[in-house]
Amino acid sequence: MKIITSVDEMQTMVAALRAAGQRIGFVATMGNLHEGHLSLVRLAKQHADIVIVSIFVNPTQFGPGEDYTSYPRTFESDCSRCDAFGVDVVLYPSVEEMYPEGASIAVTESTLSRTLCGASRPGHFDGVCTVVAKLFNIVQPHIAVFGEKDAQQLRIIRRMVRDLCYLVTIISGPTQRAADGLALSSRNQHLTPAQRAQATCLRRALDHAEELFAAGERDPGRLQAAMCEIIERAPEAKIDYVALVDAETLQPLTGLIERPVLAALAVWVGSPRLIDNTVLCSVDD
Ligand code: PAF
Repeated sequence: MKIITSVDEMQTMVAALRAAGQRIGFVATMGNLHEGHLSLVRLAKQHADIVIVSIFVNPTQFGPGEDYTSYPRTFESDCSRCDAFGVDVVLYPSVEEMYPEGASIAVTESTLSRTLCGASRPGHFDGVCTVVAKLFNIVQPHIAVFGEKDAQQLRIIRRMVRDLCYLVTIISGPTQRAADGLALSSRNQHLTPAQRAQATCLRRALDHAEELFAAGERDPGRLQAAMCEIIERAPEAKIDYVALVDAETLQPLTGLIERPVLAALAVWVGSPRLIDNTVLCSVDD
């Protein structure tokens, strides 16, 4: 497995690989890799000849007071995992390499990022779009895999690919979960044992919404209240949002549910802020 830190070197390598007819698959990460990331690598390997994983903790997607400096940096063990998983290249650029002195151009998103995580993390998705746009230009992938746990990110990246005419196919990877349903996340390691037990309230709330929806409930207010009630029973859980939005536009619903909706939540359990989601749709959707 090769480790590349320079943008020029990566671009030269992918140009040669593409010229040789190799299909390039890409997984963008901020490191601290767990089974969730590795499932995305597995998917990329199914669709490509060469798999490139980037490890870059992107400063522009963290707001003031967020966990940029404390975000776990575990490069050595990430590389061992990538190697064991048959990743061909790890791209590991420095902040200076990605954002050269005087960089003054960025990507902004003006609609899909106004709700859910984007509403509580202003500028976050502009940072994500900017870094992913740059990574696509550096890696020139044929396909790129993103996780469904970050549902809003996935939709925004698909929109960016369409709006900025990137020649890359986006593939989504299902959320990976612990046995008790908690979605895998780098932030789970910051939970105390008591918080870890309470963190299952996210999945339990979504399961309950799925059950109510399957039983015919179509009132978004009632579904939202039922989810909040479950989360509020966990003593250390503090809701950032519990929302039902149109699954395509991510805009709030008006009236009863008639089209697929994304039920999404973000909850602090102690200090880690955890997210999860599910799509509610009926057989006729
Ligand atoms: O999902 C993430 O880990 C990040 O938002 C991404 C896509 C790697 C961009 O920094």
